[in-house]
Amino acid sequence: MKMVQKTTAFERVNHFVLLVSFFVLTFTGFGFMYSALNWMNTAFGGNAWASVFHKWFGVAFAISAAISIASYIGEALSFDDDDKKWLSVLGGYFDKSLEVPPSGKMNMGQKLFFLIIVVGCGGLISLTGFMLWLGSSMAFAHLFHSLTFFLMVVALPLHIYLATAANPGTFRIMTRGDVPLSFAKKKYGKWVKEEGLD
Ligand code: HEM
Repeated sequence: MKMVQKTTAFERVNHFVLLVSFFVLTFTGFGFMYSALNWMNTAFGGNAWASVFHKWFGVAFAISAAISIASYIGEALSFDDDDKKWLSVLGGYFDKSLEVPPSGKMNMGQKLFFLIIVVGCGGLISLTGFMLWLGSSMAFAHLFHSLTFFLMVVALPLHIYLATAANPGTFRIMTRGDVPLSFAKKKYGKWVKEEGLD
């Protein structure tokens, strides 16, 4: 079976750092936020250690998010008519009878997830995290750290579902990096054509 490479080893390692740091930050963050969930922080050695983990995994997350932004911003900001059509049929996820236009390397849903959640929320949560660490503009930093956390915690399960169970075959893009040509043609038809991969 002919395979095509969708991600580099560097992108996959970076995505792994992003997801591990996101999970550590989510667990410790919930542990700080709700006393009923404070038990989560015992797994990290108690609140004081959880705070140390939260800060340094926050640094790893911020660096990894910055690398993701540099890697995907060009692709994510290139919109065309097919992207608009993709949005108008919501990628065909809610009605399988609709015709879904071909996508480039990222479909419109991936572009929006990336721009809103990774660039917007990832950027703001990192910035406000550093502000909280340094004790600057605490009210503003607290408000936006919590708001962006909420948006990310709601959006990430959707990203995980769409990248695994909802689209079988996609997960290996972030483990092995390659997919069958037939799969790539179906999901990222314009990219396959542009790169002359078929
Ligand atoms: C268990 C957790 C996760 C899984 C299983 C997962 C899976 C995937 C997969 C399979 C792709 C490739 C999609 C494609 O090329 O079509 C991807 C892309 C991506 N993921 Fe994740 N991911 C997870 C967590 C995260 C987290 C926590 C973030 C950021 C906060 C993130 C950010 C991204 C970005 C920016 C991309 C590239 C753009 C895109 O294709 O959407 N991922 N992920």
